Amino acid sequence: MRLILLGPPGAGKGTQAKMLKEKFNIPQISTGDILRQSVKDNNDLGIKASSFMNLGQLVPDDVVIGLIKKRIKQVDCKTGFILDGFPRTIVQAEKLSETMTEMGLKIDKVLDLEVNAKEVISRLAGRSTCSDCGGMYHEVTCPPKVSGFCDSCGGVLAQRQDDNVETILKRLEVYQESTAPLKQFYEKQGNLKAVTARGSVEEIFSRVLEMVK
Ligand code: AP5
Repeated sequence: MRLILLGPPGAGKGTQAKMLKEKFNIPQISTGDILRQSVKDNNDLGIKASSFMNLGQLVPDDVVIGLIKKRIKQVDCKTGFILDGFPRTIVQAEKLSETMTEMGLKIDKVLDLEVNAKEVISRLAGRSTCSDCGGMYHEVTCPPKVSGFCDSCGGVLAQRQDDNVETILKRLEVYQESTAPLKQFYEKQGNLKAVTARGSVEEIFSRVLEMVK
């Protein structure tokens, strides 16, 4: 199964991708996670990406396209993968289609997680993430047992640099401008499915499963 999760920042792409990964035993490929790890490692990619990410802007297409082309050719992607946060522009989507055709493969479904801006702001402004295992929390909907520390591994929880209201608003603007047009792109290809991304994580997951059946 080869899936793409579309949707604005905070739609729950990462949350749902992790659940799909567990259920179907296929890798979650999150360009955001790969880029954040590179920033943490302070490598060339991270140095290039961090200024764009901190401002809520997209990292240049050629950087992320190169990264994804390499990643989906790895052996663990043979039985499928979930793309979380890629593609984000028409150019990225076109390059992905080209690469998939070269590999003799196709994307099975594109799930568009639909949520409004008010919900996005409340989800992201309250989010914290474990700096060790990546576990995700929310101050209201999913608080850790001990404030500031991860329930699973005890790691320190931190807020993402781009999760302040000003940058969230910029990310939403960039989404509308550059990423929302992908809905039409995939609608034309006939594999776009809209999923209402309001409600509990479990409710949304059952809607997602219905769509990928
Ligand atoms: P990325 O990491 O992809 O961020 P994003 O798209 O802005 O999405 P988020 O990770 O913020 O949200 P999500 O939809 O995954 O939601 P989540 O499940 O975490 O990208 C970051 C940056 O990297 C970009 O701005 C860009 O600079 C760069 N980048 C990445 N990919 C790129 C690309 N392809 N091209 C160019 N640049 C790229 O959930 C959010 C919160 O809500 C959590 O707290 C969660 O617990 C909570 N939550 C989830 N579901 C629910 C629910 N049902 N009810 C209540 N709370 C919920």
